[in-house]
Amino acid sequence: MTAHSKKPMSRTIESHLEESRIYTPTAEFSKEARISSMTQYRKMYRESIDKPEIFWAREANELLWRQPWSDVLDWKPPFAKWFVGGKLNVAENCVDRHANGSRRNKAAIIFEGEPGDRRVITYGELQREVCRFANVLEKHGVKAKDRVLVYMPMIPEAAIAMLACARIGAVHNVVFGGFSADSIVDRLEDSGATMVITADGGWRRGKIVPLKENVDAALQRYDKVRKVIVHKRCGNEVSMNSNRDLWWHDEVQSCKSTHQAKAFDSEHPLFLLYTSGSTGKPKGILHTSGGYLTGTYSTFKYIFDIRENDIYWCTADVGWITGHSYIVYGPLANGATQLMYEGAPNQPDFGRFWKIIEDHGVSIFYTAPTAIRAFIKAGDHFPAAHDLSSLRLLGSVGEPINPEAWMWYQQKIGGGRCPIVDTWWQTETGAIMISPLPGCTPCKPGTATLPFFGVDAAILDEEGKECKANEGGKLVIRKPWPSMTRTIYGDKTRFRKTYWSDYPGIYTAGDGARRDKDGNFWIVGRIDDVLNVSGHRLGTAEVESALVAHPAVAESAVVGRPDELKGQGVCCFVTLKEGHDSSESLRRELREHVGRTIGAIAKPDDIYFAPALPKTRSGKIMRRLLKELVTTGEISGNVTTLDDIQVITHLQNCIKV
Ligand code: PRX
Repeated sequence: MTAHSKKPMSRTIESHLEESRIYTPTAEFSKEARISSMTQYRKMYRESIDKPEIFWAREANELLWRQPWSDVLDWKPPFAKWFVGGKLNVAENCVDRHANGSRRNKAAIIFEGEPGDRRVITYGELQREVCRFANVLEKHGVKAKDRVLVYMPMIPEAAIAMLACARIGAVHNVVFGGFSADSIVDRLEDSGATMVITADGGWRRGKIVPLKENVDAALQRYDKVRKVIVHKRCGNEVSMNSNRDLWWHDEVQSCKSTHQAKAFDSEHPLFLLYTSGSTGKPKGILHTSGGYLTGTYSTFKYIFDIRENDIYWCTADVGWITGHSYIVYGPLANGATQLMYEGAPNQPDFGRFWKIIEDHGVSIFYTAPTAIRAFIKAGDHFPAAHDLSSLRLLGSVGEPINPEAWMWYQQKIGGGRCPIVDTWWQTETGAIMISPLPGCTPCKPGTATLPFFGVDAAILDEEGKECKANEGGKLVIRKPWPSMTRTIYGDKTRFRKTYWSDYPGIYTAGDGARRDKDGNFWIVGRIDDVLNVSGHRLGTAEVESALVAHPAVAESAVVGRPDELKGQGVCCFVTLKEGHDSSESLRRELREHVGRTIGAIAKPDDIYFAPALPKTRSGKIMRRLLKELVTTGEISGNVTTLDDIQVITHLQNCIKV
């Protein structure tokens, strides 16, 4: 579609974009903003880097602590402890702090279901619901540090379940509703969860996603779950196991709407969220309490410059980190009003989001480039049919936003008046790390611009030297920050190896990037074997392992290729076992098989049947060549280490078919 999106996203670390358009916030926006000039930003940034303890203590002090900390930071690389000795209750900070004060009757969540049903939940009501559900969890024996798997649609009960876990110190592990039963089993096993919270189903594109059915299938292979609590959302038929399954509505009815919240240590585990890496199964990223809450609270406050009467809407799903940090914890810690929408952007058509913005007067809108590209394709008449004048600020997350999409977003959605915050961060960072501040940062379409307070971001070359302006290298963070992941659950060795082994004491993000002469960070994409499909991370190793689990497949290699809408498409090369022949029906079957094994987002876009895969003499698959082949149609790179040069000709033929 666009020149940029056709470019290989991760072929080289070098980015070739030259962008000279600069957009500065309007005087009107700046005047009202918390950070209204670059001088103010630079002064605060300097302090946050030179004296992080002072900066972060001030931010954390805006939250409610039951016991003060003794030290702001204890840093024994790569393990950090923030607000050491401090005690707090995360749910109390997100709910009670507001419900017991002037925001009691303020809307916390304005919900719109895909079928059009609407509900408004005030902070007072949210407090009662969270308390009731915390009592339900305790009644069924859930204790602090127990792991609870949450597999829910995008409904307020998802947030209520997470907050109820936080309230009693249990560790939630939310699994995206689009993931399969197999993915649930992997996460149950790795986390050792004993309770599941789910719903009968959720609405997506007019159909019911069978959540309970998927949980039932998963629990046939994992027997440590004692209770499953099921929220009735769609009314679809589900089977209830009388020893194990309970209806949410029955349970809350018999529980009190008050609950005494205990204080937990600042480093008490808050949640696990699984994310793809370059090898093996998804890893359980662990986040803890005080630092994570401070990071999400502070970034949300400054980057979205939240005001008492804003209506904020983040279109992510709670199953991803964006949903954790910028639907649940960041906005609620700030006492914001937010909109939550259950379904698809094109249900019943591509006007749905714009209708929601008009109907509810949304003022801050946070979405993903993949959605923006889909809207561009659908046509300008959809947003043009709605009054979007309530919007004052736009956000983008999940992948690099191509300048054309940025421009469209700014003009067609933001009416040319709204700043755009292009926010770079990761599941592991917990909170936004690089982003404009909307009242001051000059923006160039396509760059996430400058680091947030306390974030010592840099780009390093292989030797660990800082790259010169416009030179591509690895994006790293040189100092610890409060919302950083504390470890990979149960695997400190993998934690060290994945993030901390390139340069001693420095966090490597896994992204390639460059900095322009003004200091702006341009993210190019992943430099490991991780794809970014529609803003979601997918390990090529996961798709390969799903493919080889199919009886017809001998071997497979998966690479990403540029995709107009999704950013990257999933491209698979497959060799078949003796006795199996390639066919259109086998291709379809393999696609479905991967969808069933991982989830719909992992379904391959292309499957090529190859007689052999390109390998080195020691037998290692040369994915680099496959990536080049699907991106450019040929292989021109270094092939001297290739074992059998003939393979290239075969591969070139198979992608032509
Ligand atoms: O490659 C970067 C890309 O998404 C990766 C993190 O994925 P995940 O942990 O699933 O979290 C996504 C939502 C925070 C990063 O390593 N990424 C995320 N935001 C941006 C981005 N790439 C460029 N620009 C962004 N704004």
